[in-house]
Amino acid sequence: MADSVRPKRIGVLSGGGDCPGINAVIRAVTKSAICEYGLEVFGIADGFLGLIENRIHRLAFDDVSNILTRGGTILGSSNKADPAEFCVGTDDAGELIYEDVSDRVIDHARSHNLDAIICIGGDGTMSGAAKLAEKGLKFVGAPKTIDNDLMGSEVTFGFHTAVGIATEALDRIHTTASSHHRVMLVEMMGRNAGWLTLYAGLASGADIILLPEIPFSPQIVADRCVARSKHGRSYTIIAVAEGAKPIGGEVVVDRVVRDSPDPIRLGGVSEVLCEQIADLTGLECRATILGHVQRGGTPCAYDRVLGTQFGHHALGLLVSGQFNRVVVMQGGRLGSVGFDEVADRQRTIGGDDPIVAAARAVGTSFGDK
Ligand code: F6P
Repeated sequence: MADSVRPKRIGVLSGGGDCPGINAVIRAVTKSAICEYGLEVFGIADGFLGLIENRIHRLAFDDVSNILTRGGTILGSSNKADPAEFCVGTDDAGELIYEDVSDRVIDHARSHNLDAIICIGGDGTMSGAAKLAEKGLKFVGAPKTIDNDLMGSEVTFGFHTAVGIATEALDRIHTTASSHHRVMLVEMMGRNAGWLTLYAGLASGADIILLPEIPFSPQIVADRCVARSKHGRSYTIIAVAEGAKPIGGEVVVDRVVRDSPDPIRLGGVSEVLCEQIADLTGLECRATILGHVQRGGTPCAYDRVLGTQFGHHALGLLVSGQFNRVVVMQGGRLGSVGFDEVADRQRTIGGDDPIVAAARAVGTSFGDK
């Protein structure tokens, strides 16, 4: 329900892993807050960490000029600082000690007279905001992630830039694969959602696409490589999502970030599979893990536009008193959903996804049959 007290001072923060397009949101929020609504805007450094440590500074119009094309976030970000469960150190046995520092966060927000905060983030950031909202802070969320896995929104900014980067990488791998007659595996980010790999794999004409949502058989993947070489195609391109796993098997974990609310970092499945395919086929194989290059650099035009729309829409919700909601895109139209629909949930690829059907129709294998 709309809250009738009109905000005068607002905060903006970016939490979780960065992505291209965050600065477009910060710029849209700040410029329209100042010019359209006459509000004062405060930038919070490094996501919730800045609220915990009281690193909150006024943002003027000029502070957000000339940032639309810049990657990353001018405010900084943190994917470790959940105020309800904040890691404050280790005990004598080396075990991490957690404290609920929500009250400190609320004191800091109140000391700056922040009426509401726009939080730019993914499901983890929205979950942190939802917990603070229960204690009285007011938020509006703008969804960002290259993973495109935010529940309730068909697209998040950052995704299409990452698709472009990954597609270019796959295109480049294509030419060297063809020169050396190799099986080349290219691993992409995305956690437990395969959107990035599906889009980039399809866009670059990958022969095999391996997704978290469709467990694969290493033998079927190997047979496909051999079949291609028998039919005169001397190389195979495999697009692999970091969360892909074999039928009945597990994901490959790259590292555990102990003090992060979401500690598992995936990575390395392409290297494991590379060895398996080499053993099963006798073909020469190489794996490339694209990593954080997918999150860096200037946003594509689409993400600049989407970030601007999301930022402006988030501010509209805030000004009209519609708090604790996240801006979403549904059926090509801007809208919003409650935090409870988004927090700690992920939107993955459904079994009847039309893009998967189109890829299968043009002969792409998903390693499952
Ligand atoms: O959620 C964005 C993302 O880039 C995932 O695709 C990836 O698994 C993860 O973040 C990597 O996290 P970090 O930057 O902590 O290594």
